[in-house]
Amino acid sequence: MRFGWHSTVVRKAVVAVSGLALWTWIVLHVAGNLTLFSGSAVADGYAAALRRSPGWLWAARAGLATALVLHVAGVVSLARTARAARPRHASHRPADTSAVASRGMRIGGALLLTFVVYHVLHLTVGVLHPHFEPGHVYANVVVGLHSAPIAAIYVAVAMLLGLHLLHGLWAAARTLGVRPETAARRRRPAAAVLSAVIALGFASIPLAVLAGWLR
Ligand code: HEM
Repeated sequence: MRFGWHSTVVRKAVVAVSGLALWTWIVLHVAGNLTLFSGSAVADGYAAALRRSPGWLWAARAGLATALVLHVAGVVSLARTARAARPRHASHRPADTSAVASRGMRIGGALLLTFVVYHVLHLTVGVLHPHFEPGHVYANVVVGLHSAPIAAIYVAVAMLLGLHLLHGLWAAARTLGVRPETAARRRRPAAAVLSAVIALGFASIPLAVLAGWLR
């Protein structure tokens, strides 16, 4: 029996737990984004309040970065193990649904990661923003999402994230042993509603900018 990182059970648990930590952060981020609907004073005030406790802000960022690294490292390592275990010429056989789903999760995850790099440079650092003003979060979002192609990217990412969260929540529940299967299946609508609310919460911002409700 193998323990530690060599064990696929341990790596699956690391992916599940780090995924749930990322989930928590995503929920906080979407809630923070919704303050934009209360106007610039509230949204900028919320962002300023976060910066008034730099210790907590950097601790949260460090936690987020650690969870992201563990999540990606676990997924990459599990994919390598699965590839090494596959019999030769197996690629000629049709893939089963769970193999297709996990390939979809890996491709979707890579796209989300690419977006996060772009997004941080766009709205946190501001180097990819046409008129970035530090501390003016409301104005930065409205100006940054004013272009239809950029807003479309944000909406598409929100949908992709919803699907990734839905499948991820499921996979995490299975890995962490939510039993029996029937009870887990009954919770499926709850997981779908939760993921849809997050996707719509993120998508609502670029859509509201395009519609002129946020300006
Ligand atoms: C679609 C609508 C979204 C909007 C309007 C939005 C808005 C923002 C804004 C304004 C910031 C900078 C906050 C600040 O400087 O105080 C930010 C930071 C960030 N966002 Fe988003 N975001 C969106 C979606 C996402 C998604 C889908 C993800 C992840 C998959 C994400 C991940 C991040 C990260 C990692 C940061 C950096 C946090 C930090 O400064 O430590 N965002 N977002």
